[in-house]
Amino acid sequence: MPALSSSARATLSSTVAAGNRELHLHQTQMSLALPGEAAAKAAITVGLVFGGRSAEHAVSIRSAATLHAALRRAGYWVVPIGIERCGTWRYMPLGGTAFPAAVDTNACAVTLAPNGGGQLLACEASERRVDLPRIDVAFPALHGPFGEDGRLQGLFETCGVRYVGADVLAGAVTLDKEVAKRLLMQAGLPVVPYRLHRRGEPLPTWQAMSDSLGPRLFVKPASLGSSIGTAPADDADAFARALAGARAHGDKVLIERRVIGRELECGVMDSEDGPIASVVGEIRAGTLDAFYDYDAKYADDSDATVDVPARLDAETTRRIRAMAVDAFKALGCRDLARIDFFLGEQGELFVNEVNTMPGFTSISLYPRLFEATGIAIEDQVRRLADLALART
Ligand SMILES: Nc1ncnc2c1ncn2[C@@H]1O[C@H](COP(=O)(O)OP(=O)(O)O)[C@@H](O)[C@H]1O
Ligand SMILES: [Mg+2]
Repeated sequence: MPALSSSARATLSSTVAAGNRELHLHQTQMSLALPGEAAAKAAITVGLVFGGRSAEHAVSIRSAATLHAALRRAGYWVVPIGIERCGTWRYMPLGGTAFPAAVDTNACAVTLAPNGGGQLLACEASERRVDLPRIDVAFPALHGPFGEDGRLQGLFETCGVRYVGADVLAGAVTLDKEVAKRLLMQAGLPVVPYRLHRRGEPLPTWQAMSDSLGPRLFVKPASLGSSIGTAPADDADAFARALAGARAHGDKVLIERRVIGRELECGVMDSEDGPIASVVGEIRAGTLDAFYDYDAKYADDSDATVDVPARLDAETTRRIRAMAVDAFKALGCRDLARIDFFLGEQGELFVNEVNTMPGFTSISLYPRLFEATGIAIEDQVRRLADLALART
């Protein structure tokens, strides 16, 4: 492994001396070379939070692996914090090993100190002797409920920790697709026509739904991602199955008109001049009747293909990018979001959904969209961390 440059070493040792933070300057990390500007960032510790309680736990770990590599290349000190499916937080310093495929249930259980400025604390008396770092900024690489919906963000706020991404309110309203739709409609943005079913209400019938929305339907839980619990429903039997599947994932279910057409996605990132839109990308789910389901998104043998940029006329591209920024603002988003669209066969555009912590897996679109816009992933994570660090 290459040796640390002398300037990086100086930065690190002065950090240790000045901040009494030798606890987290592990030997293995110190031996990593940090070129030029990156050396200055080594004084900044990013708490990379991953895993989590939602059904998107596994996706989050894959996002965190990409983010970890990018943050390291950008020169940050990275403290991996894995959240088990049951909710326990684990401090998981890598010690030079590859990013883990799972949360280590034997690692030290930790929590954030209330009003502790990012200091991690051990949860069990027997673990008190583990040296625990203080994080300057949290990067919650978490998707879905508990990580992306404002709940974790509330904890960060309570503990006085700056964090990347949407705040409590924007995370909460965006993760609930039905509340998000109402805010988008109020801002004049087109959304797919839908009906809402809440647990406890009489089950909607296929006939009533298709009479009001059209003969082809799509059913999804209001508050989840990665296509979990979603299904097309083109007849009464499929509708009953889809409803049962979506109801297993939450109390609110959306029944939408099924849009036959193209799926387009646009990234948005904050900048000094306000939010900017990336190029537009297109997702094509293998077969004609397929939709972009969990396997299409993440399986190695997925038939789904991605076009970055999408083959689109200039006017449609312009409209999508403008709508993406409008949607970002309408939902009160911050730092980053990915806005997903449908383009129907008749040329009609709909905002499908907004993700305040889009996927960062090796095949995810958000980082690729901004790479194609001219911002390398190291610069993306640097911008995001800097945006969070600039907040008081
Ligand atoms: N109204 C719809 N018409 C057609 N396909 C849909 C519709 N809603 C969702 N889909 C398909 O299901 C996928 C997942 O739905 P989406 O609303 O994006 O939820 P998630 O948060 O799980 O990504 C989409 O990428 C798309 O392929
Ligand atoms: Mg989606």
